[in-house]
Amino acid sequence: MIINGALKRNILKNQVLTRISILILLLFSSPFINSQTLEDEKNFQQCKACHTIGGGKLVGPDLIGISERREEVWLIKFIQNSQELIQSGDELAIQVFNENMKIPMPAHNLTDDQVRGILAYIASGGKVAGAETAVAPESTEASSTEMEAAEETVKLLAEMKRDSRRNMRSTFIIMVVLLLISLFDLVVTKLVKARWIHIIIILTSLTIVGELIFVEATSLGRQQYYQPDQPVAFSHKVHAGQNKIDCQYCHFTADKSMYAGIPPVETCMNCHSQVKKGKKTGIEEIAKIYAAIEQKKPIEWVKVHNLPDHVYFNHAQHVNVGKLECQQCHGEVEKMDEIIQVNDLSMGWCIDCHRTQSVQFANNKFYEQYTQLHQKLKNGERSAVTVLDIGGDECQKCHY
Ligand code: HEC
Ligand code: HEC
Ligand code: HEC
Ligand code: HEC
Ligand code: HEC
Ligand code: HEC
Repeated sequence: MIINGALKRNILKNQVLTRISILILLLFSSPFINSQTLEDEKNFQQCKACHTIGGGKLVGPDLIGISERREEVWLIKFIQNSQELIQSGDELAIQVFNENMKIPMPAHNLTDDQVRGILAYIASGGKVAGAETAVAPESTEASSTEMEAAEETVKLLAEMKRDSRRNMRSTFIIMVVLLLISLFDLVVTKLVKARWIHIIIILTSLTIVGELIFVEATSLGRQQYYQPDQPVAFSHKVHAGQNKIDCQYCHFTADKSMYAGIPPVETCMNCHSQVKKGKKTGIEEIAKIYAAIEQKKPIEWVKVHNLPDHVYFNHAQHVNVGKLECQQCHGEVEKMDEIIQVNDLSMGWCIDCHRTQSVQFANNKFYEQYTQLHQKLKNGERSAVTVLDIGGDECQKCHY
């Protein structure tokens, strides 16, 4: 976890640096440009993957002239959370949803004013008012360095791990060689007269070799930092990060079943029947989705996380009942081009969290059976109830 700490600091440092550079950029440009419109343009970045302004339909409809077609109050609600509006039975929202092949638009964490800003930006045809656009690309560059910084740190993590493996291997070899030399000298050449020197060398190298073997043996079958190549260059950074698609839009069984599940190609087609080209990989990778549909053959993803067969792990229990974020166990997936397993999935890892993690009793009907603990929580006898208190260390709960 030292690595994680260093990583966090690194990310933090990079974020602070980019924030500062954005700030300086804004300061310099403020005499020439209204910073409000700059922010609107930045906010519109998250819409660009699915919408154009006068460039035709993408995943979602062309937004040109949208403010003339729809009322502002409706637009604000729809842009903030279209699914909520649809579920509330709003007729217009349902109609737009149906016309667009029921591809849900992700929710956006924007204030009313920020949405108004975006609408003004759209109304101006996507131009930053009162200035040449020369300044704008720099601001997007700043946010892309933020992304690059995150990518760097994920790579760094894998690299550090590989480094420590390499170090371990060379220490092992050196120790074995030392051991052999001193044994040889002790028995055959007898160059060093003092016996105790041999004994010290032999004992230390034996301890170190033993330790290394123990560490290797216990991590046998574990695959922390495992990062296999996948049949399609699918990127979580592009989907969950840049396009802010909700994890459970694709892993839609995570809150109701034992398995989070990998989405079938039909889910990809919700969007890729329209999006035929990616910025990085062009048409090549997306074409594999169409091939899979045509040949009726599912894409054969390589499973990254694997627990041994004797362990029982349930996603719904953790995501739905435990109300944990995916990231607590899987790391910052939205910054990964390729998925990498960041935790070792050892028994110690499970228990460590159960020891410290409080159970979310509030408004959780699953826990009504624990009335006694509830009582204690209410009258202040306890400040929190951890997973261990409700039996999160009982062998049979995790083992078949
Ligand atoms: C992942 C793709 C995606 C992203 C990102 C996205 N949208 Fe959408 N948007 C859609 C889809 C699909 C629809 C069609 C409606 C539906 O299916 O719910 C839509 C519909 C809309 C509509 C209604 C259009 C109409 O004809 O009434 C507006 C307005 C809109 N989006 C604005 C935005 C804005 C503003 C953003 C950025 C803050 C944004 N969208 C981001 C996919 C997206
Ligand atoms: C909710 C919409 C949505 C879904 C679902 C979706 N994608 Fe995408 N995907 C996009 C968008 C938008 C882009 C374009 C990003 C860009 O601008 O490059 C994209 C880009 C891609 C790219 C190209 C990336 C690049 O930068 O070159 C690949 C490959 C891809 N998707 C694969 C998949 C696969 C496989 C699935 C199903 C598991 C899937 N997508 C599901 C919206 C979606
Ligand atoms: C557009 C669809 C899509 C979205 C959105 C998405 N994923 Fe995935 N996810 C996939 C696909 C496809 C795979 C299998 C390929 C791979 O491993 O990259 C996958 C694999 C994974 C894996 C590795 C599974 C294994 O094999 O062990 C994890 C963990 C994961 N996703 C977590 C997340 C999290 C967390 C989020 C939200 C931040 C998220 N996913 C969002 C489609 C998606
Ligand atoms: C408490 C930790 C924890 C949380 C929270 C968690 N996962 Fe997992 N996840 C795991 C473990 C452990 C595995 C390996 C399971 C196995 O091999 O049986 C796994 C496996 C997966 C897989 C591989 C396929 C599968 O179903 O086994 C995907 C995809 C995945 N997780 C996505 C998610 C998403 C998305 C979320 C959030 C909605 C999430 N996970 C939340 C621990 C967690
Ligand atoms: C990040 C924290 C975290 C990690 C890591 C974690 N858990 Fe949990 N676990 C929880 C929480 C919170 C609950 C309480 C929710 C509940 O009661 O179901 C829980 C509950 C459980 C339960 C039900 C306990 C009961 O008494 O009902 C089982 C079984 C379980 N976890 C297994 C595992 C296994 C196996 C692993 C490792 C592969 C694991 N957990 C890793 C947080 C975690
Ligand atoms: C919170 C979940 C959890 C609980 C509770 C739990 N285990 Fe485990 N156990 C695991 C996981 C996960 C592994 C797989 C570790 C690995 O592959 O490194 C494991 C592995 C093992 C192994 C195989 C040896 C090893 O380290 O790989 C044994 C033996 C074992 N557990 C015994 C027990 C006993 C006995 C108890 C009760 C005192 C217990 N476990 C309670 C999650 C749990």
